[in-house]
Amino acid sequence: ILSVDNSVENLKEHPLIQCAATQLASNEVVAFPTETVYGLGGNALSDQAIERIFKAKGRPSDNPLIVHISNKKQLQHYVKHIPNSARKLIDAFWPGPLTIVLEHNKKLSTRVTAQLSTVAVRMPDHPVALALIEAANVPLAAPSANTSGKPSPTTADHVRKDLAGKISTIIDGGTTGVGVESTVVDCTSETVMLLRPGGISKEALEEIVGVVEVDPALVAADHTPKSPGMKYTHYAPDAPLQLIDGSTDFFRKIVEDAINNGKKVGVLVTEENKGLTRANQEVILGKRSDLSTVAQTLYSSLRSFDKNVVDIIFTEVFPETGLGSAIMNRLKKAAGGTIIKQD
Ligand code: TXA
Ligand code: MG
Repeated sequence: ILSVDNSVENLKEHPLIQCAATQLASNEVVAFPTETVYGLGGNALSDQAIERIFKAKGRPSDNPLIVHISNKKQLQHYVKHIPNSARKLIDAFWPGPLTIVLEHNKKLSTRVTAQLSTVAVRMPDHPVALALIEAANVPLAAPSANTSGKPSPTTADHVRKDLAGKISTIIDGGTTGVGVESTVVDCTSETVMLLRPGGISKEALEEIVGVVEVDPALVAADHTPKSPGMKYTHYAPDAPLQLIDGSTDFFRKIVEDAINNGKKVGVLVTEENKGLTRANQEVILGKRSDLSTVAQTLYSSLRSFDKNVVDIIFTEVFPETGLGSAIMNRLKKAAGGTIIKQD
């Protein structure tokens, strides 16, 4: 693990960034911080580098990767054309947690795009990520730097726990800010389509490009998602997770019933609902009134449950607007879709 102080001037020339860039040049993979979650980066032009990413993560090969660039102008080198909707979104949100899907021009490794005619691209808003891409002098394909299926990493230590021994270098830039992944939108059709809710809300997108469609798979389970990664089980903590949609009394009753049935119970609750139950392990997300701290602490909270301490985890639910959509999308996936609703 190489620790880099994000506030250093001219990070690109920093010996640790240079060292990581040298590794990328020999098609090694490097884990690095972004503003959303840690990524596992490799040269997006190299089949060998991309193969190493899939191998380290144990990722299914039909799940394409996001390509990270360090300035807006780089985009034109890898896509067929940039529609107006994409231009507007780029001006509004790059650098930032927005990934744009466009038709590619076949210059990137075919492994990056997993045989699709499109590529997902974003410019991250993190000084270390930008310096690394610049120093490498190539776009970096990077999925989240976790073992496939586990919660995404928001610290270098999460990456180490998942990938130690499988990758040679982790750049430690501290805890990531947004905490959930980027929003993924498809800009290849007339109307922009939301494929994965994330750091930029649908409402914020609509202020820039008008009505945004939502991939039907995000709302109904009987559709195949247009973003291949969305079909896999994801973000799972060590014990099964269930979402509880109801009053605080209902939440307390569900927990009591499980305890009475001899279960060791974990609860994932906001500050406002602290100390509500006799759970064996209580993990506090941020404040309900501040969803950005809930997003920021979500993955580390899911990781902090210990299967030796709990058999089952219950969590509260959030309104599915703004950042709440991304939080609920990740919680539902972590729970494998189970929501217990009060009548
Ligand atoms: O915030 C993020 O986006 C983080 C950081 C590291 O940048 N990266 C990330 O990558 O979340 P990953 O691989 O965990 O998720 C990429 C998502 C997957 O759901 C994948 O299927 C989708 O983007 N995707 C990639 N290329 C696509 C394409 N051409 N069309 C549709 N979806 C695509
Ligand atoms: Mg991921």
